[in-house]
Amino acid sequence: MWWWLFPVLSAILLKKCMSWNHFIIFSPVNPTGFRVDRVPNALDAVVIGSGIGGLTAAALLSKAGKRVLVLEQHDQAGGCTHTFQNKGFEFDVGIHYLGQLHENSLLRVALDQITEGQMQFTRLEQHFDTLLLGQEYRIHAGKTEMAANLKKQFPGEEDAIDEFFRIMKVDQPSGLWRTPLFASLKIVPYWLVNFLVWTGLLDRISTVFRLATTNHSEVISRLTKNKDLQALSAYLFYGVPPKQSSFLINALLLHHYKRGAYYPRGGASEFAFHIIPVIQQTGGAVLVRAPVQRILLNQQGKARGVTVLKGQEEIEIHAPVVISNAGIFNTFQKFLPNHIQQKSEIQSLLSMVRHGMGSFLVFVGLDGTKEELGIVSTNFWMYKDSDLDTLMERYSSLSREEVLGNIPMMFITFPSAKDPTSNIRQPGKSCMTLLTMARYEWFEEWEGTKIGKRGQDYLDLKNSMSQEMLNWAITIFPQLQDKVVMIDAATPLTNVHYLGAPRGEMYGAEHNLERFTPETVARTRPQTPISGLYLTGQDVFCNGMAGALHGGLLCASAVLNQILYIDLLALKNHLKKRKANHKLT
Ligand SMILES: Cc1cc2nc3c(=O)[nH]c(=O)nc-3n(C[C@H](O)[C@H](O)[C@H](O)COP(=O)(O)OP(=O)(O)OC[C@H]3O[C@@H](n4cnc5c(N)ncnc54)[C@H](O)[C@@H]3O)c2cc1C
Ligand SMILES: *[C@@H]1O[C@H](CO)[C@@H](O)[C@H](O)[C@H]1NC(C)=O
Repeated sequence: MWWWLFPVLSAILLKKCMSWNHFIIFSPVNPTGFRVDRVPNALDAVVIGSGIGGLTAAALLSKAGKRVLVLEQHDQAGGCTHTFQNKGFEFDVGIHYLGQLHENSLLRVALDQITEGQMQFTRLEQHFDTLLLGQEYRIHAGKTEMAANLKKQFPGEEDAIDEFFRIMKVDQPSGLWRTPLFASLKIVPYWLVNFLVWTGLLDRISTVFRLATTNHSEVISRLTKNKDLQALSAYLFYGVPPKQSSFLINALLLHHYKRGAYYPRGGASEFAFHIIPVIQQTGGAVLVRAPVQRILLNQQGKARGVTVLKGQEEIEIHAPVVISNAGIFNTFQKFLPNHIQQKSEIQSLLSMVRHGMGSFLVFVGLDGTKEELGIVSTNFWMYKDSDLDTLMERYSSLSREEVLGNIPMMFITFPSAKDPTSNIRQPGKSCMTLLTMARYEWFEEWEGTKIGKRGQDYLDLKNSMSQEMLNWAITIFPQLQDKVVMIDAATPLTNVHYLGAPRGEMYGAEHNLERFTPETVARTRPQTPISGLYLTGQDVFCNGMAGALHGGLLCASAVLNQILYIDLLALKNHLKKRKANHKLT
C-alpha cells in the first residue's frame, strides 16, 4: 500500500519548486509591469526610458557587473523600436531599415555584445530605395555600386557624384576616422574643445568640423547644378530643409546604407527582447508602466534617484546614478525642480537645442501575401518638387487649415515584405506604413486630451490626412486599391503618448546646423550639470537606431569612466583577424 506516498511526494516536490527562485525551463516573460516588490535592491543605476539609448547604456553597465533598473512609461519596452498589434496586423513604429550591419562592422559588434549575438537581420533588396521626383531614381547598396548606379542615372554628372562620394567617406580610415574624431568632442574636456575652437586649430585637425557646420545646399550647389541630383543627395527627410541642415549628417545618413540596408528578423521588437536578459543577468530589471515623475536630488544637488507614479502615489527609487533616455527637454524641464532648471548651465544647454518636427504615420493593413500583392522590400521616397528647400519650408510654414491637399512629401514602406518571418505571425496578410513630417502646432489644440477621446474634429483631420496619403500611395501601387482592410494613423500627439516625446518630435532635438557646431556637440554629452545625472540616446549623438546606440555607448563610457570604444575597436580587430586566419586555413 504505497499509493499514499505519491500525493505526499508530489506535494513536497511542488512546494520545493515554488520556493525556487531560479527556473529550469521556463523564465519570466517580458514586459514586466512596475510593482514596488519588483524593484531590485542595491541598485547601481536607474535608467529613465527603455529606448535603444536606455537599453544600450543599461546592458553595457550590466556587462561591467552593475545592477541597473530601466523604467519605461509605456506598456511595451523599446521606445521607437516597440511594435504593436492592430486588428491582427503587426506594425513597427520607428525602425524602417538599418545600415552598417555587415559582419564585423563597429555597429554590429556593439549590437552583438548587448544582445549576446541573438539578433538576426535580413537584407533588403540591393535596390533598397526609390526616389520619386516626377522622375524615378533608384538607390542601390554596394561599396562601388551605389555611386556607379547613380552615374548611370545622371549622365554628365560623373565628377559631381565622385566628389560627393569622396566627401561622404567620412568614417573610413582613409578619411582619418573623421566621425570618431567628431564624437571625441563629447569625451575630451570642455577647456580643450574651447581652446581648439578659439585658436582655429580644430579646423586644421580635420575637415569634418567644417563639413558638419556647412549647410547642405551650399556644398551640393558647388558640386552640381542638377536639381534632381541635389535633391537625391538629401532625400532621407527628417524635418530640416537642406539649407538648414548639416552636410555631414546628410552624407552620413546615405553612407549608413552604402554597405546594405537591413531589417531585424522577427521585427523591431527583437531589440528589447534580446537586450533585456542581459540587463537581468546582474539582477537588474526592465519594468514597464513606470512613468518617472521627478529626479531626486540630495542636499548637495547630486542625483540620488527618481520617483515613479503608481496610481496616485509617487514611489521613490534610489540609485547613485540616474540615466535619462527621455531626451534633453523632458530631463531638464520636466524631471528637475524649477530652481535647478533655472541654473545658467542648464539654461545655456537648453538654448543650444530646439524641439524637432513631429511625424504623421499611416498604418495600413492589406489582405494578401507579398507575392499576391506584388510588393517588395524596396522603400519609396516621394516629393512633389525637386527643390527640397522651398518645398520643406513651405510645408512647415502651413497653418493647420492649409495642410489638407498640400502634403508634399511621403515615405512608403512594407514592413511585412522586409521580414521573412512575418508570414508566420500574420499569415495571408501584409502591411504598409506611410510617413510624412507634421508640425506639433497643427494638433496642439487637442493637447491634454486622452488617447481615443480627442473628439471628432481631431479624428476628421487625422482621417483626411491619412486618406490623402493613401490616395497618393495608390497612384504608385494601384493593385492595392481594394486590398485595404484596416487603416489607422499616428499624429505628433500619439508620439507624446507612446514615446514620451514632449512636442511629438520624431527624432528628439532638431537636427539643424546649430546642433552640429563644435560647442553644441561638446555640450550635448552624457555628463550633465547635475552630478550623478547622465543623458543617453538620440539627443546625445544623433537620430536613428545607430545614433541612439552610440548615445548609449558614450553614456556607459562616461558612467564607467572608461572609453568603451577602445574595447570595441580591439574586439572588432580581433574578430576581423580571426576571420582572415580562418580563410587562410
Ligand atoms: C516614424 C519613425 C521612423 C523611424 N525610422 C527609422 C529607421 O528606419 N531607421 C533608424 O535607424 N531609425 C529610425 N527612426 C529613429 C529611431 O527609431 C530613433 O532615433 C531611436 O530609436 C531613438 O532611440 P532613443 O533611445 O534615443 O529614444 P526613444 O526610442 O524615443 O526612447 C525614449 C523612451 O523614453 C520613454 N520615456 C519618456 N518619458 C518617460 C518617463 N517620464 N518615464 C519613463 N519613460 C519615459 C519613452 O516612452 C521611450 O520609450 C525612426 C523614428 C520614427 C519616429
Ligand atoms: C547656406 O550657405 C550659404 C552660403 O554660405 C548661405 O548664403 C546661406 O545663407 C546658408 N543658409 C542658411 C539657411 O544658413
